[in-house]
Amino acid sequence: MDKIFITRNWHVDAVKLLENHFEVIVWNNSNSPTEDDIIKYSKGCFGVFSEFDDIITKNIIDSSDQLKIISNRAVGYENIDINTAKLNKIRVGNTPGVLVETCADFTMGLLLDLARNITYSNRAVLKGNWKSFNQTPYLGTDVYKKKLAIIGLGQIATAFSRRAIHGFQMDVSYWSRNRKINLDNELGLQYIDNINDLISSCDYLSIHCSLTPETYRIIDKEQFMLMKNVKLINTSRGPTINQDELLIALNNGNVESAALDVTDPEPPDYNSELVNHPKILITPHLGSGSRETFNKMALMAAQNIINVHKNHEMVSEVIID
Ligand code: GLV
Repeated sequence: MDKIFITRNWHVDAVKLLENHFEVIVWNNSNSPTEDDIIKYSKGCFGVFSEFDDIITKNIIDSSDQLKIISNRAVGYENIDINTAKLNKIRVGNTPGVLVETCADFTMGLLLDLARNITYSNRAVLKGNWKSFNQTPYLGTDVYKKKLAIIGLGQIATAFSRRAIHGFQMDVSYWSRNRKINLDNELGLQYIDNINDLISSCDYLSIHCSLTPETYRIIDKEQFMLMKNVKLINTSRGPTINQDELLIALNNGNVESAALDVTDPEPPDYNSELVNHPKILITPHLGSGSRETFNKMALMAAQNIINVHKNHEMVSEVIID
């Protein structure tokens, strides 16, 4: 029987599904295995089922003897050396689609939290600072009919825009590599072809673009200087913003508060000023983390492996140019 190595012990249903077809070796730990461990346990395996923070290096891929598929339980796959995978004729799978609505819910949660200082005021309560009825240190801003700017209009940002428009009648503008005229018409979105124009007049800014050389620090000093009391949400990838400049922008008021579900690096430096800033809310890369979606992504990653084994098309394959 062919073997699979799965790099966490979290996925009971996915393991059951895989066990119908393979001998499954489960890394019995909730932390990522080291490079040496991945090399050791994936020896002789047909597939590796990986998580977003397993760094699947050239060394791992070159050391594997039977490997046919690396199946990442994530949409992103920057943790995998895909060029070496291609050279070794190893296919790579990912799990887009199933997480869209879950990530959109989460993004809306972060926006509402920033708008009304929910985490900020909770921290004050935990310090014993609720002494009498006094809202004044925590007054936030409305969401209803406010201006939301979006960078990168993929599936998640589209689902988020629907919530913002249908639920809160927000005025939504976006910049994206490609204009989406159908969505402009359907949802009443406004496309703005210059990021600096987009961000200079918004109340809320949400970043959704994938990380590429073009989007690395797409929000940098120049952009922060143009903002006025913006509430910033980043659920894409940490390096899309310059975090040192974010700290300056928070201190001088260009950014009123920020919610980061992604940081650069991950996890962040706990002693840094940014992490400890009262107007920063950091969550541990949790956008897709509902129980339902966690499981759906695991089942999809398992199915990708099964499909390669059966010579069927993968549910989602990363096409390596
Ligand atoms: C998470 O960030 C993912 O790429 O699925």
